[in-house]
Amino acid sequence: MTEDRALSLSKGRQGDHDILLEIDRLRTHFFVDGGVVRAVDGVSLSVPAGKTVCVVGESGCGKSITARSVLRLIERPGRIVDGRILLSGGDSAAGEPVDVVALDPEGERLRGIRGGEIAMVFQEPMASLSPMYTVGNQLVEAIRVHLDLTEEEASRRGVELLGRVGIPRPERIMESYPFQLSGGMCQRVMIAIALSCRPRLLIADEPTTALDVTTQARILDLLADLQAETEMSMIFITHDLGVVAEIADEVVVMYLGTVVEQGPVDEIFHDPQHPYTRALLASIPRMGRGARQRLATIPGQVPAPLQRPAGCPFHPRCTEAIPGLCDVEEPPMIELGERRRACCVLHDRERLDRHQGEAARS
Ligand SMILES: Nc1ncnc2c1ncn2[C@@H]1O[C@H](COP(=O)(O)OP(=O)(O)O)[C@@H](O)[C@H]1O
Ligand code: SF4
Ligand SMILES: [Mg+2]
Repeated sequence: MTEDRALSLSKGRQGDHDILLEIDRLRTHFFVDGGVVRAVDGVSLSVPAGKTVCVVGESGCGKSITARSVLRLIERPGRIVDGRILLSGGDSAAGEPVDVVALDPEGERLRGIRGGEIAMVFQEPMASLSPMYTVGNQLVEAIRVHLDLTEEEASRRGVELLGRVGIPRPERIMESYPFQLSGGMCQRVMIAIALSCRPRLLIADEPTTALDVTTQARILDLLADLQAETEMSMIFITHDLGVVAEIADEVVVMYLGTVVEQGPVDEIFHDPQHPYTRALLASIPRMGRGARQRLATIPGQVPAPLQRPAGCPFHPRCTEAIPGLCDVEEPPMIELGERRRACCVLHDRERLDRHQGEAARS
């Protein structure tokens, strides 16, 4: 990022957009026996207020670790080793955005952000529900930590939310323990808990995978309603391109811990600028609600975490790779327009010309 751009972000704006969250060159690494897994390796992305950014990419490319980093939920042997995560507005409305990476992990501010300003729905529903307490206990507790409501008011709000995420007879479910519920039901409870404090940002990590198509459609409608009511922003991680087509304003495509392309959803689908995005989309027929279009499998394997290729990380699988260049030099991130960019040397005319010149001389 250039200094100018960093400056505009520190004021929470980018062009015409109010930026709620700015992830700036984030690196989150795992220090394991045998080496360092660079799970997130220089990710930059931003989320405008009131908009939905969908994050896509094959399994293992760092989507969940990026999401967890935003809430500082990385456990040993993992650690955020570099970068900033700037959150604008809220308590910091009067001043500069707060850098979540720099916050005291045990401090008041981070606690207020977690579940209050930023809520997260995890990939594994059971991981964030306690088996020891009823749904009602957990929902009321979550609401009362962040909102100044009586137990009775919080309980009423909980019941209402359970109804809104499509849970029949919500009063009864309030009395149930998570293990008494199906996976899909737990996922809905988790979504209700996440939404209970009206977060400014919802991070949803493959939140609708265990749900049937009707419930999924209902949850997506609920999220859209809440977004209209409260200007909530969303980071939505999903494998389901039907969902992306329906809810995304923008799409971020990740590969091996980096962002390879980002842009408005229509441009990503109809005019992808990175070979990886093109490969992902290649075998997708048509988008449509409920179609459950999964990401295509593309030729070749994602490299093992400790065997990151030199140069462009995608080069061993890229049909457009240029020998002697793509396997040697890291490709530059090229700005292609406002909030539109791709990390591929094919967009760097100067570097291509220089390489051709060198190749011709040798
Ligand atoms: N606790 C851990 N220890 C070591 N490596 C991890 C750990 N958690 C995740 N990773 C690695 O980080 C990379 C990114 O994982 P993740 O963010 O979960 O991918 P995904 O895009 O599927 O959500 C993967 O290579 C994964 O193996
Ligand atoms: S930099 Fe080279 S290898 Fe990487 S995506 Fe572009 S063309 Fe393919
Ligand atoms: Mg994941």
